[in-house]
Amino acid sequence: MTELRAIRGDITTLDVDAIVNAANETLLGGSGVDGAIHAAAGPELRDECRELGGCEPGEAKMTGGHRLPATHVIHTVGPIWRGGQHGESEVLASCYRESIRLAAGHGLATVAFPCISTGTYGYPQDYAADVAVAAVREAVAEHRSIREVIFCCYSDYDLGLYTERLA
Ligand code: APR
Repeated sequence: MTELRAIRGDITTLDVDAIVNAANETLLGGSGVDGAIHAAAGPELRDECRELGGCEPGEAKMTGGHRLPATHVIHTVGPIWRGGQHGESEVLASCYRESIRLAAGHGLATVAFPCISTGTYGYPQDYAADVAVAAVREAVAEHRSIREVIFCCYSDYDLGLYTERLA
């Protein structure tokens, strides 16, 4: 049975098999958690990302962790919130599902997620938490080699949302 838990913290500090990056389609870095991960991982991460040829929303691609404590980074591109009638929830669910699938496919056991799309991309935090928890629960039922999933929240508000949904 996979353990799901929520913590408040900086995802770049987590010593897990993979941290998930809320990237953009270029995979060449940005602000928010993308900026923090690239800053902590060092320039070699961007060099590796440059070879990946970008990433479509809802898809996920993996690199090494470089100077991060995590051994891998799974880069995924969340949906930009446009009111909720443009398939945003399906794309967001796909980010979580594809990240778990990729991790399991590479024999990774511990994965940490940020609150994808809820910053720059404007996805309402509560709706996103509903989608994230449901999608991860479904994905780990299929990929039982995943031992632990951490929802790494950057605010007490997000931590409250996830704690509620995981109770
Ligand atoms: N650790 C964990 N979570 C973090 C960290 C961190 N160090 N820094 C920021 N966050 C949180 C934000 O507070 C938010 O809850 O990550 C969540 C996602 O916000 P963003 O990083 O803005 O990501 P997103 O909304 O998916 O927008 C992606 O922003 O940075 C650019 O290149 C990125 O274009 C892409 C867009």
